[in-house]
Amino acid sequence: MAYDIEQVRSQFPSLSSGTAFFDGAAGTQTPEPVARAIYDTLVSPISNRGKGSASARHADDVTLAAREAMGDFLNADPAGVVFGRSMTAMTFDLTRTLSARWKPGDQIVVTSLEHDANLRPWLLAAQQAGAVVRWLDFDPKTGELPVEAITAALNSRTKWVAITAASNVIGTKPDVAAISAAAHKVGARVHVDAVHLAAHELVDMQGLGADIISCSPYKFLGPHIGVQAASTDLWHELQPAKLAPSPNSVPERFEMGTLPYELLAGVRAAVDFLAGLEPNAQGERRERLETSMAALHEHEMQIAQALVEAVESVPGVTNYSRASERTPSVFFTVEELSASEISSWLAQANINAPASHFYALEACRRLGLGEAGAVRVSAAPYSTLEEVARFREALHAAVQQLRD
Ligand SMILES: Cc1ncc(COP(=O)(O)O)c(C=O)c1O
Repeated sequence: MAYDIEQVRSQFPSLSSGTAFFDGAAGTQTPEPVARAIYDTLVSPISNRGKGSASARHADDVTLAAREAMGDFLNADPAGVVFGRSMTAMTFDLTRTLSARWKPGDQIVVTSLEHDANLRPWLLAAQQAGAVVRWLDFDPKTGELPVEAITAALNSRTKWVAITAASNVIGTKPDVAAISAAAHKVGARVHVDAVHLAAHELVDMQGLGADIISCSPYKFLGPHIGVQAASTDLWHELQPAKLAPSPNSVPERFEMGTLPYELLAGVRAAVDFLAGLEPNAQGERRERLETSMAALHEHEMQIAQALVEAVESVPGVTNYSRASERTPSVFFTVEELSASEISSWLAQANINAPASHFYALEACRRLGLGEAGAVRVSAAPYSTLEEVARFREALHAAVQQLRD
């Protein structure tokens, strides 16, 4: 496999800042072709979506092309791809729509591994509907979410299971396919938060057994927008709150107001960029994505290994990323030192390694980290081993300085 890191890096203008960006899990840097697609869309004739003029057709084409791209990216039906402001906003909208049909005593299942965006909207919706919430807890010692726990949490009243495909703090990848299969057996449906996973591995909505899947392109080199995908059959069952004159077609009825066409062009460009990461990749876009994301995975695992070694070489460190299946993110604290001080010190050395709970509040509480969270470093397509070496040196220097 050919992963040409220098060729990849040459396409990211922001890397000329010299910053080592290990903060990709909070949002990645943008390659030039994505920014160019956004710019080109804005400066070429474009009107509101329609068929009546060339510029209206342009908006229509951009929208359909973005749905196709996300269909390939998620292994989803393009006709079931919905765009919205962010994964958070979309999940609030979704849970309001779903819960309008819940009855007191119905159940939903959530996990303590979630980013709050796949938790709070479900909890609030359940509260409003009088539905019962069942929790699946991960083991803070191992970082694993035991699949067996789902069996006890499910019953015939379970309507939805909300689960992450990967924790955005400790990186754990639960066995979502097994959990979905168990949920489907009792007639429940599954919403998968693929925001963190999608940056690192090719998502397979069908393989995961997701009824609805969510992701955020700004985590995988694209613009700041949210995406949700489901089968058109499922979308047809649901009736969201909408304006009277806005289309009632699927998926449009879930997209409130005018879509940001320029960002949709950026989404398509991001998917095409990822599909081209391995220059020898052949075939249709999904096949090229498979080859390219496998090459990316190999690259990022090498970076992750080096990050783990760098972190674990520090005396008094605790590395919370321990699950056997996980993304290339390392979440750590150093005894007696504040995570945010370490992060600030690294930022001064031009190394982005933020410290927070990263909105995975329940997970951080369960890890005993409270609201302060920990430092998180993640591999990205543009990360290099040389940057990891810089990180290692700066981390040791930070710890020494802060201890003195
Ligand atoms: C795992 C996970 N889920 C959901 C979100 C929320 O996504 P958005 O910023 O698009 O609302 C994030 C953002 O960090 C995340 O990491």
